[in-house]
Amino acid sequence: MAPDPHHRRPPDTDPGALRSYGRRHGKPLRANRQALVDDLLPRLRVDPSAHAPGTLDPRALFDARPRRVWLEIGFGGGEHLAAQAAAHPDVGLIGCEPFMNGVAALLARVDEGGLTANLRLLDDDARRLLAALAPASLDRVFILFPDPWPKTRHHKRRLINPATLDALARVLADGAELRFASDHKAYMSWALERLTAHPAFAWTARRAADWRARPADGMATRYEEKALARGETCTYLTFRRRPRGG
Ligand SMILES: C[S@@+](CC[C@H](N)C(=O)[O-])C[C@H]1O[C@@H](n2cnc3c(N)ncnc32)[C@H](O)[C@@H]1O
Repeated sequence: MAPDPHHRRPPDTDPGALRSYGRRHGKPLRANRQALVDDLLPRLRVDPSAHAPGTLDPRALFDARPRRVWLEIGFGGGEHLAAQAAAHPDVGLIGCEPFMNGVAALLARVDEGGLTANLRLLDDDARRLLAALAPASLDRVFILFPDPWPKTRHHKRRLINPATLDALARVLADGAELRFASDHKAYMSWALERLTAHPAFAWTARRAADWRARPADGMATRYEEKALARGETCTYLTFRRRPRGG
């Protein structure tokens, strides 16, 4: 078998970066899903390698040139991303997900919901997109129920790490939101520790209800629903990008 080029690290990123996701492929896609991958995906796909690092204006990916652009990293089956795109037709939504069965599930939602105008996607590691984006070009980033990589020897694969936080700090506009959620207590502590230590991010929570409940304008993800159905507690963190030079 040919070596998987994604095994060690995503291209266009820090050479030290390790893969932060599990599988790229699951069960073979049904014919209608494969047709969406073949026909619809190329129309919506963002190609980070077509842009010099740090130059991609994400608003230019949309005909309507939306005032705001939001990114979801690791959208899974795309429930949340599609719901956000439907609820906010004036916002440009970009989703990144290397798991092709998830990408195909999102494409089915986009097709059914007629969401092609304000949704774009990268079927690969989000860190490739972060590297291509222009500074201060995103208004919100969602990282919802990321892979917790629970074994100690795998912690280095966690998406929340200094390099990703620096990349997010660069691409988020002043005052932009980073929304993180997890049902994994150890990963939550890990993320909270690193986010509060980072000079670019300010935690917005004022009271316990702020991290115990999904933001009022938030929408459920599949992993969240499964965790809640198991009786587990989910925690929600919202950070604001501090003003530069402020
Ligand atoms: C545990 S799943 C959660 C999916 C979804 N957010 C939900 O809550 O239902 C985490 C997802 O993040 C994706 N992922 C992991 N690392 C990623 C990366 N560097 N860029 C984009 N997606 C990534 C994985 O492929 C996986 O589908």
